[in-house]
Amino acid sequence: MSGRQKILVFDSGLGGLTVYRAIRAIRPDADYLYLGDDALFPYGALAPDVLTARVDQVIAEAMADFAADCIVIACNTASTLVLPSLRARYSIPIVGTVPAIKPAAAMTRSGLISVLATPGTVSRDYTQDLIRDFAAGVAVTLVGSKALAGLAERALRGEGLDREAIMAEIAPCFVERDDRRTDVVVLACTHYPLLIDALRDLAPWPVEWIDPAPAIARRVVQVIGERRDRGEGEPVASFTAGEPRETALRSALDRDGFRAFAGAAAR
Ligand code: DGL
Repeated sequence: MSGRQKILVFDSGLGGLTVYRAIRAIRPDADYLYLGDDALFPYGALAPDVLTARVDQVIAEAMADFAADCIVIACNTASTLVLPSLRARYSIPIVGTVPAIKPAAAMTRSGLISVLATPGTVSRDYTQDLIRDFAAGVAVTLVGSKALAGLAERALRGEGLDREAIMAEIAPCFVERDDRRTDVVVLACTHYPLLIDALRDLAPWPVEWIDPAPAIARRVVQVIGERRDRGEGEPVASFTAGEPRETALRSALDRDGFRAFAGAAAR
């Protein structure tokens, strides 16, 4: 037993790495299990009951081996559904990732913001409630992208960056109305910050892209405390489709500190 705190970071695939990186930057002393349910990726089009049951199952299997002190659901598509059932089941802090509509509404000067997310996330009551509670007087364009998370996965796996396809997915975020233009885009899927350079490059005009990862990392520190010592914990990754083979992805995971892979959880 290391005595180090243990943090489980969960996503449907590789997108949660954007959140993991931000957390590990301020809590390098914790042990991590990064769990990607890539056997069922993408989550964006799954029916809510299927998704809820699946997340319950894979988290339960992971928790049997890795008794985390904190679970981070680094996936908007899952968080906007499963947080209540996970909180009822585990007595440890569960930190979710939900669309950053509140900071976007506070930041906009033009009054036009866009929320770029999976089709699942844009259809959730949770997202509608955030708009009602925090974006009064702001015009919110919801853009449900079917393909962007997959394009991000492919890029990280070294299968190339399809700029034309990315452009087609983000184009509806850019709205011109009267003399005003969208000035803030919420990246409400953790995969999208993996493409941030391309997003900036392809945008028809400059906007603020909100990546929620730093705020989630701060929240983790609020609930489990500051760094405890100078040592570094051990990051382990587990993917339900099995250990990744692609060289580009192996190098990316290596750069993120993953030297070990746990056996695949539920398939
Ligand atoms: N990374 C996930 C999110 O934040 C979803 C990607 C997917 O599986 O469709 O919503």
